[in-house]
Amino acid sequence: MIRPMSPPEAVKARSTQSDRVRSVRADRIRSNKRGWDERSARYQAAVGGAEMYAGRIRWGPNGFDDAHVGVLGDVDGLDVLEIGCGAAQFGIELARRGANVTGIDLSAEQIRHGRENVRSAGVRIRLVTGNAERLRRRFGDASFDAVVSDFAAGFMDLDRLLPEVAAVLRPGGFVALAWTSPVLDCMTGAGEPPLLAFKYSYFDRTPWVDAGRDATFEFKRTYGDWVRAFAHAGLMLEDLVEPQASKGASHAEWRNFRWERTSVVPGTCIWKARKPSLASP
Ligand SMILES: C[S@@+](CC[C@H](N)C(=O)[O-])C[C@H]1O[C@@H](n2cnc3c(N)ncnc32)[C@H](O)[C@@H]1O
Repeated sequence: MIRPMSPPEAVKARSTQSDRVRSVRADRIRSNKRGWDERSARYQAAVGGAEMYAGRIRWGPNGFDDAHVGVLGDVDGLDVLEIGCGAAQFGIELARRGANVTGIDLSAEQIRHGRENVRSAGVRIRLVTGNAERLRRRFGDASFDAVVSDFAAGFMDLDRLLPEVAAVLRPGGFVALAWTSPVLDCMTGAGEPPLLAFKYSYFDRTPWVDAGRDATFEFKRTYGDWVRAFAHAGLMLEDLVEPQASKGASHAEWRNFRWERTSVVPGTCIWKARKPSLASP
């Protein structure tokens, strides 16, 4: 499945106005909720409805098939929480494979589209509106075998999110989060030539705050930032899957992730970590 570019991705650019970045950061959760409520209809029209993944479990804008990258494997019978579930297309594929899926998203509009998709797919998924940085109070300790997310974790503060993920996971359970690679985040933006050039310092953590009225806030992180956040939350990093796009395989429309780029540098990182089982020392 090829996801067309949605309008928000088309305008993604780092704001050079530090006062604007500061003010959006101060109200990050509310800004992201407002931003996603506002863009949800456009985004869903662009990415497609319940059948967006055409019967596959697919990761990231390049649509890497889990059957090939092997992150999730067999999910039959697992209690799975999807954070930043959007309109539940990823969760629908998990439910079709026998998982008991719960989805949480900040945006009521995204969840509304999700309920429509779930109805039309004819599966059972529990969908809730809420902040994934506060899971424990809502779901309780040790309530899931797996926590997954496809392209939402960049909107979340890992230092708040991952301790909550660790709490709601059962011992031995795993978390798998897909997001843009820290390398791609340093490169020229969508539609900005040249395609294979660094534009931003790897060490610059200035967040992405888009220029529009309903700005959203995305963290910019290094590999070390990710590793440290898992370690601080007591989660054992098992893998960092960096699928390579093959020639012509990725969609040309999601310009940041064009195959000419993501066949040379990783565009998508899928971070997989596990909560130690009780038997571990
Ligand atoms: C790029 S969309 C991805 C949605 C879906 N996973 C997909 O692939 O279509 C990012 C989603 O993260 C959600 N989000 C952002 N911050 C969140 C938070 N703190 N808690 C829960 N969801 C959040 C947004 O509302 C949005 O639906």
